[in-house]
Amino acid sequence: MNINFKELANKYQTPYYVYDFDYITKQYQELKSAFRARKSLISYAVKANSNLSVVKHLGDQGAGADCVSIGEVKRALKVGIAKYKIIFSGVGKTDDEIRQALEFDILMINVESEAELKRVDLMAKELDAKARISIRVNPNVDPKTHPYISTGLHENKFGVDLDTAKRMYIFAKQSDNLDPIGIHCHIGSQLTELEPIKESINIVAELVRNLSSALKIELSFFDVGGGLGIVYDDETLIDTNEYAQVILEALFGIDITVVCEPGRFIVGNSGTFVTKVLYEKVNGAKRFVIVDGAMNDLIRPSLYDAYHKIEVLEKTKTKSSCNVVGPVCESGDFFAKNIELPITEHNDLVAIYSAGAYGFTMASNYNTRGKVAEIALEDGKDRLIRRRETFEDLIAHEEDLLKN
Ligand code: LLP
Repeated sequence: MNINFKELANKYQTPYYVYDFDYITKQYQELKSAFRARKSLISYAVKANSNLSVVKHLGDQGAGADCVSIGEVKRALKVGIAKYKIIFSGVGKTDDEIRQALEFDILMINVESEAELKRVDLMAKELDAKARISIRVNPNVDPKTHPYISTGLHENKFGVDLDTAKRMYIFAKQSDNLDPIGIHCHIGSQLTELEPIKESINIVAELVRNLSSALKIELSFFDVGGGLGIVYDDETLIDTNEYAQVILEALFGIDITVVCEPGRFIVGNSGTFVTKVLYEKVNGAKRFVIVDGAMNDLIRPSLYDAYHKIEVLEKTKTKSSCNVVGPVCESGDFFAKNIELPITEHNDLVAIYSAGAYGFTMASNYNTRGKVAEIALEDGKDRLIRRRETFEDLIAHEEDLLKN
């Protein structure tokens, strides 16, 4: 990927996110072809980057959508993703969200508790519908990733244990308004070790066999979640073919469609956040590079202490240690601490890499800062896919109420 960040900065100003759509295609194709020996559905995890153009681009390749709010479901439908490729997950769906998901007739609602199953049953009854559901199993396996993005241990709020899952399948089978068609498991994000995935997939595959032999419940979809890690720094990654192999082996002899819900793997390294230097300053012995982007635009370093590679463009010489920080009024507003960068000047451009996943989607308007522009690059051409927010955008929902 060879991107002229300067040209884009001149055209769209800074800060901005730019995404390489050809890279997104390549990642999608890589995963899809890893599962070629089976019926598979790659349902893109919309939360990673929910820009309509990104979701549409993936939909156009054949991807489905893994959604965690009815808003994400609506985004997927809006760009033409077929309803039979949309999954709705999450531990806290509201009645209204469940009702709408049933009305949209999406592929399945991924249920995460017994209490929720009863709500779905009730809502389906009220609508005189049959709700297709899957159940999210929590296999109690340590995914060995950051605690905030670990989801497969009983101490995490996600899914249900194996015994509860069995009870839920029995309940669903007996209900006139529920159709248990799938099973789901997602143990965490930014996974770089295959072993925990293998362990959890085997546990869930075993449950699928038990459901079939003991209860005559035949499932059609085996959803392995997302979570494949990417390179931010020097991580060794899981090979996608080995990943698929582990899943296919666990499912040997079972006629079931594999569903996979990657987010970061597809878009993470497609994206760069570009910001420009406002000032340099030194407090005592500490050097700061102050840029026009901030934690409200890209919160991963502040929230998870996440590493993102940073470069000052067109400058390579004389490096010294510094913190790269934004204008927000918090000491937690930083992109990196104690990294070596060249001495910068006003308006130098700074690229923050691997920012395509959980970058813009986690942005806020904190400090009344408008969300930045998003740009797509495809076939060597750039286009704006979300315009920079103006002050008027930010106050629009309050302005009319001012006189009350
Ligand atoms: N499926 C489920 C049920 C999930 O909870 C997630 C992510 C995914 C799929 C997609 O995971 P991925 O393939 O992107 O790893 N904000 C954090 C990541 C939170 C992930 C939440 N769930 C970050 O910036 O690292």
